Amino acid sequence: DILANYQGTALLEKQLSQKLGISRCIVLPGNADKQYRVVDSFGRRLNQLLGSILPVGQSMISVTGGSTLARVARNLSPDLSKNRQLVFVPARGGVGESVTIQANSVCAEMALKTQGQYRAMYLPEDISEKSFESLQKETSIKSVLELIYRSNVVIHSIGTASIMADRRNLSEKEQSIVDNGNAVSEAFGDFFDRSGKLVYKVPRIGLHVQDLDKIEHVIAIAGGQSKAEAIQSYMKNAPHHTVLITDEGASKLILRDN
Ligand code: G3H
Repeated sequence: DILANYQGTALLEKQLSQKLGISRCIVLPGNADKQYRVVDSFGRRLNQLLGSILPVGQSMISVTGGSTLARVARNLSPDLSKNRQLVFVPARGGVGESVTIQANSVCAEMALKTQGQYRAMYLPEDISEKSFESLQKETSIKSVLELIYRSNVVIHSIGTASIMADRRNLSEKEQSIVDNGNAVSEAFGDFFDRSGKLVYKVPRIGLHVQDLDKIEHVIAIAGGQSKAEAIQSYMKNAPHHTVLITDEGASKLILRDN
């Protein structure tokens, strides 16, 4: 019955938060690997969550890219902009990734759906250390970076290392560091192994995992059994105040693992 179901989910969410060492988990029914509608439900739940945590007035919301967030974005709604001015900014450069799933596009879609605003940052993710230094000083980039660092909310996903290594066009040398280090997860350009050890960091502009400590609300969204290992690995580095939106598929595998 409904009550038993509700209590079951509440218990699952509590156990998962304890196991991952974060403040809160929201577990939705299903397995995102098999059903797209599960990712749509992440979006609707995110909309609800933002509605309950965002203050009246302006909010700066940094978002990353990926297929999960691209789909999540479609499920946000204009009620979020009631008494609020929302500005979506890409947490990092994203050119190089396919246009539809890069952070700039996710921001644009979130702004469209919520009737908010967005700022784009057209920068490659994979740039040399030297260009990275000088680009950071460019006025147009500096102004977006300032917004990113002033964010009161970050919404990000967690990728599996092998898929993300392909998507981020890593060189052969970088690829072998990721492979030899047995990386299983990626977030914000950082690759981690099962124990949460940093294996490789893609030089990049934008938010770093360590910057999350200073951001009031950190929301991670990732689901499906295929993401279970990546979620566990990344959460070893996540700030404690992270809220994870996930599904039963990932949760049950994580809780089964010792
Ligand atoms: O930046 C990419 C995310 O970390 C994961 O991407 O949602 O396509 O798996 P995904």
